[in-house]
Amino acid sequence: MNDATEAFDAVDVIATKRDRGRLADEQIDWVIDAYTRGVVAEEQMAALAMAIYLNGMTGEEIARWTDAMIRSGERLDFSGLSRPTSDKHSTGGVGDKITLPLAPLVAACGVAVPQLSGRGLGHTGGTLDKLESIPGWRASLTNDEMMRQLEDVGAVICAAGSGLAPADKKLYALRDVTATVSCVPLIASSIMSKKIAEGTGSLVLDVKVGSGAFMKELDQARELAETMVRLGTEAGVRTVALLTNMATPLGLTAGNALEVRESVEVLQGGGPEDVVELTVALAREMVSAAGLEDVDPADALADGRAVDVWRRMIRAQGGDPDAPLPTAKETHQVLAPADGVLVELDALAVGVAAWRLGAGRARKEDPVQAAAGVEIHYKPGAVVRGGDPLLTLHTDTPERFGRAIEALEGAFTIAPEGSRPDLPPIVIERIA
Ligand code: URA
Repeated sequence: MNDATEAFDAVDVIATKRDRGRLADEQIDWVIDAYTRGVVAEEQMAALAMAIYLNGMTGEEIARWTDAMIRSGERLDFSGLSRPTSDKHSTGGVGDKITLPLAPLVAACGVAVPQLSGRGLGHTGGTLDKLESIPGWRASLTNDEMMRQLEDVGAVICAAGSGLAPADKKLYALRDVTATVSCVPLIASSIMSKKIAEGTGSLVLDVKVGSGAFMKELDQARELAETMVRLGTEAGVRTVALLTNMATPLGLTAGNALEVRESVEVLQGGGPEDVVELTVALAREMVSAAGLEDVDPADALADGRAVDVWRRMIRAQGGDPDAPLPTAKETHQVLAPADGVLVELDALAVGVAAWRLGAGRARKEDPVQAAAGVEIHYKPGAVVRGGDPLLTLHTDTPERFGRAIEALEGAFTIAPEGSRPDLPPIVIERIA
């Protein structure tokens, strides 16, 4: 039984969802608040999360759950800035370094970009881990420092403070250890509570689909995107989602310093075609969602304005944009076994290999290696010769090569010359 001073009993709330009932608004408000206060125990929230995982939530329940998580903490307010704000959230993928070129590019177009980011867990890398490979760069800013940098430079990529949606912080850690992460209502409310609390005026969601993503199937990804767009729009945030391909890694690198190097190449007008295409597509959405209809981000990339903002953004957070990036002590090449056409390079396998080389962490307190990762020499569709290097593995600890190579078994397929692989476009669908 619960404390008589509490409005509800956690056991009754769990039983409602276990029996496929609809949670009342007051039950949702109470359970999120009581969990944040430590009155609802971890094992009770674990049971409720599993009941939601199995039985789902209605649109109204998801909206109320999201709102209750927003109200568990502080809300930022960017209304004092002289420019409109826009933010991007990616559901995470292998080689997904897009935030790095995107934030300065969109800022160069006149939009303020408050990009509150996280560290990586598992096979997808975290934006902060990538930037921390730049000598001197620091992820933690106070709210005042963030506001000042948004006004002066236009773009900030920094750690989300602990004050935003603290209920989600607890719940996400719990879901991680109770097999309740991959559930549309819980993912949508988790992401959108943080983004709405952050106070951005508009938001562009990059919802990844494929082996390297949370959502392996298009239907699931579409449902997640539609749910998040609805939550954002109802909360007064102009929200658009792109469903994008994550069957194969994005660009030619997966790993922290390797991805920074590739991002700088994009900002300097080079870089892999898919990274440039997705960066510009997302930038166009952000600029348009912020209300600047006549600005084309492709111009700011071509004329060097975006790379100038990048340099100022890195310097403002103590980093040296001219310092050499760390390189790995050891490398190992994976060779093509035969002549032919590379028809598949699996994103998940490359992500797991990069992680095992030291680019990612298994537990949130683990350190990461700045220089570890995978460099990709050919993308699907390319003609290769037997013996050509397909991948270069980078690490400071060569005893990791064996497990990384194991992860890559069956990761690529080479078909006879003349084969035409079916390659999905990078942007699969737009949801608004
Ligand atoms: N990212 C989040 O912030 N929450 C989720 O539930 C999944 C991905």
